[in-house]
Amino acid sequence: MTIQLTAALISFVGVAGLICVFLFVLSGSGQEAPYPDVQPRAYRIRKRLFYVLLIGFFLVPAFTLRSTPYAASADAPDSTIVDVTAHQWYWTMSQAEVPADRPVVFRVGSEDVNHGFGIYNETNRLIAQVQAMPGYINQLAVQFDTPGTYKIMCLEYCGFVHHVMVSEIRVVAATASLEEI
Ligand code: CUA
Repeated sequence: MTIQLTAALISFVGVAGLICVFLFVLSGSGQEAPYPDVQPRAYRIRKRLFYVLLIGFFLVPAFTLRSTPYAASADAPDSTIVDVTAHQWYWTMSQAEVPADRPVVFRVGSEDVNHGFGIYNETNRLIAQVQAMPGYINQLAVQFDTPGTYKIMCLEYCGFVHHVMVSEIRVVAATASLEEI
């Protein structure tokens, strides 16, 4: 299952659960009960919910933050570094070719306004993206599994001809690129 599908499934289950809670509350809303009878139970539920949320607050980031590309980019000494600069309305990149199956780190900045650096594979599926901001370098670590021509598109409206901010990057099989050197 892809990460997107997992996220969609978790969201779906969460929303379905929320709807169930809402319907349960709605079904009992017509009944009347003395406050001292319901208060202890409600407080008990609230207390349990608090601890569940507290544990989730630490557990979820502990497992998910490790797989963010930003942390990975910091400790990959053998990675290929590509400097990317966004301009109104084009991209400049320090190299147009990167190896497949090796870590690649894009260091993305902007000359003028905010842009969005988005990498699309040959089936036009977005595989990675990061903000391109003036005065700041964002690092995006990507490992390309498949050689081919990947499209770069701007993902944030940045002015009159934002839509022409398209470029390409070639991903070549790691062995082929080594032979060329
Ligand atoms: Cu650059 Cu939109």
